Amino acid sequence: MSTHSLLLLPGDGIGVETMAEVERIIAFLNARSNSAKFETQSDLVGGAAFDKHGVSITEDAMAKATAADAIIFGSVGGPKWDSVPYEHRPEAGLLRLRKDLDLFANLRPAICYPALADASSLKRDLVEGLDILILRELTGGTYFGEPKEIVTLENGEKRAVDTTLYTTREVDRIARMGFDLARKRRNKVHMAAKWNVMRSGVLWREVTAAVHKSYAADVEYHEILADNCAMQLIRNPKQFDVVVTDNLFGDILSDEAAMMTGSLGMLPSASLGAADPKTGKRRALYEPVHGSAPDIAGQGLANPIATIASFGMALRYSFDMGKEADLVDGAIAKVLEKGLRTGDIMQPGMTKVGTSEMGSAILKEMEAMAA
Ligand code: IPM
Ligand code: MG
Repeated sequence: MSTHSLLLLPGDGIGVETMAEVERIIAFLNARSNSAKFETQSDLVGGAAFDKHGVSITEDAMAKATAADAIIFGSVGGPKWDSVPYEHRPEAGLLRLRKDLDLFANLRPAICYPALADASSLKRDLVEGLDILILRELTGGTYFGEPKEIVTLENGEKRAVDTTLYTTREVDRIARMGFDLARKRRNKVHMAAKWNVMRSGVLWREVTAAVHKSYAADVEYHEILADNCAMQLIRNPKQFDVVVTDNLFGDILSDEAAMMTGSLGMLPSASLGAADPKTGKRRALYEPVHGSAPDIAGQGLANPIATIASFGMALRYSFDMGKEADLVDGAIAKVLEKGLRTGDIMQPGMTKVGTSEMGSAILKEMEAMAA
């Protein structure tokens, strides 16, 4: 019997509600399997951690995160914490997890479930069958580059600086990951950057092209300006397979890709570190792409699918439990086919359900499929 340790960090807002549905699925898998068991611990992050401890994540929670086989993360932030000191803002907890655990590769798949094609803001034929992967660099660039500051000038005016900083090594490792992933998909990579304006973009282009040449000449490779990529995603999204891009462009392009699938409430993500040379294991954090949605938090309205699907990615990528991951994904597709919808993906003629009803329905399908 192998034991997998999970740290659950529900965070703020709807993260708390959607994580509760994941816990039910974990309990179901634990009850059913006699080969693998999940041991879970929970802790606070974001505004919830700030309210209790005065920081967005404690050292104790960081230690648990470092020790866990995988972290399942909900969401952080909300207007309640708008005026807390910048270094303690809820998002800082998430950024510290990414940086300290060196989770440099953020996989954001955008898959359009056939049942949801009409919920997309794009026309059905543009998104039906869509299956793209935004691969976002997650520990460098504008998010972490120094200097990052606001200084007051002698004339009393302020000057704000963010720095977009990348090294060869940082671009090289994410580019390799992009080509590796493409080989398991449709064998095509687009590298999106702004080499026409940014020095960091010039480096991205140089390094990725070199990786392509020396390491992945078998993969179809395209360079695309990030603004054009944003436009092409709307114009003809199915031309893409893997889009590899920096931290800031990846943040933006992944929201755009997510919305094409019907709702931000649908998209999971995986943030992975480098493979341990001995065990091959990677540090990993799984989280929905959506945020804490303070406007609907605490009302049982949130769509739990993105968080549940994030746990599904954990099964696949951290625990090599492809069969169980298929069960999760299959159950989600089934429930959607049957017409169950949370408010964010509601369409005429469908059945509107809340967070826990959606969770129950997915669990029921999993039970039926596993029987
Ligand atoms: C995301 C989020 C985060 C980011 C926020 C919450 C800091 O938007 O994961 O995409 O900007 O990376
Ligand atoms: Mg974002």
